[in-house]
Amino acid sequence: MKLHVKAPAKINLTLDVLHKRSDGYHELEMVMTTVDLADRLELTLLEEDRIIVHSESRFVPSGERNLAYQAADMLKRELNIRKGVEISIEKHIPVAAGLAGGSSDAAAVLRGLNKLWNLRLSLHELAEIGAKIGSDVPFCVYGGTALAKGRGEIITPLPPPPSCWVILAKLPIGVSTAEVYENLSLDKIEHPNTEIMVEAIKNNDYFTMCQNVGNVLENVTLMRYPEVADIKEDMLRFGADAALMSGSGPTVYALARHDSRMHRIYNGLRGFCRQVYAVRILGKGEEWGDS
Ligand code: C5P
Repeated sequence: MKLHVKAPAKINLTLDVLHKRSDGYHELEMVMTTVDLADRLELTLLEEDRIIVHSESRFVPSGERNLAYQAADMLKRELNIRKGVEISIEKHIPVAAGLAGGSSDAAAVLRGLNKLWNLRLSLHELAEIGAKIGSDVPFCVYGGTALAKGRGEIITPLPPPPSCWVILAKLPIGVSTAEVYENLSLDKIEHPNTEIMVEAIKNNDYFTMCQNVGNVLENVTLMRYPEVADIKEDMLRFGADAALMSGSGPTVYALARHDSRMHRIYNGLRGFCRQVYAVRILGKGEEWGDS
């Protein structure tokens, strides 16, 4: 028995850090949404008790370091399952980019195995298991658009944001999320207004959404990699309605409402950045396409 699952990338419309917690993690408030740039996973049921993960992409870690492997392993251990799975990952989301590619693969494995192993777990239960793998996994289990709090695992679903183009640009730099958080100083930083962003989404107000994108981790990554800040400026120069870094970076994205503006930004960036994608924000239920 085989199952095909899509694992979409996410972007942060906001990312705010409230304080550092005693467990070493940071208390967050983020508004995230899924976009139609996705990895594709094939899950094949194995009667023998083992997990195999492979990918043609050299950027995908093999074996136990892979979050998709960890997701299957965690489900097996939590529920004492003796079946196995072979997972094949077709990678399209850039790795170590701030787009939650690995977390989305893990979430897709949780959702897929829920069907393949006939587990009948709720999304809430899958997200709880996902939180043990990584902070972004619970959001990826739900998909769509959501407000995430706590370490990232407390999810409140939101309606889809106003429809627009998202032009993603990823420079050939890999950023370590742990290092970015370690180097964040919470003194004198400007915080995004999460509440206004949530209201803008609920009111389908594109202008207010664009005015209120914000990510405090830019304070670390843009300082360290000025070329990422340059791309953001270029996006605005090419006519983006908003431009922001996603997650801990280095991917930056531009928002554009009209096709002509999207083409101008996309073509402008393609002149000097190899990894550029023009994608849409996904509406409710559009993200999975499981078969
Ligand atoms: O949870 P995850 O393994 O994805 O997080 C990667 C790293 O990012 C953590 O080890 C931690 O250093 C940092 N992090 C944090 N606060 C969060 C989420 C992540 O400090 N809320």
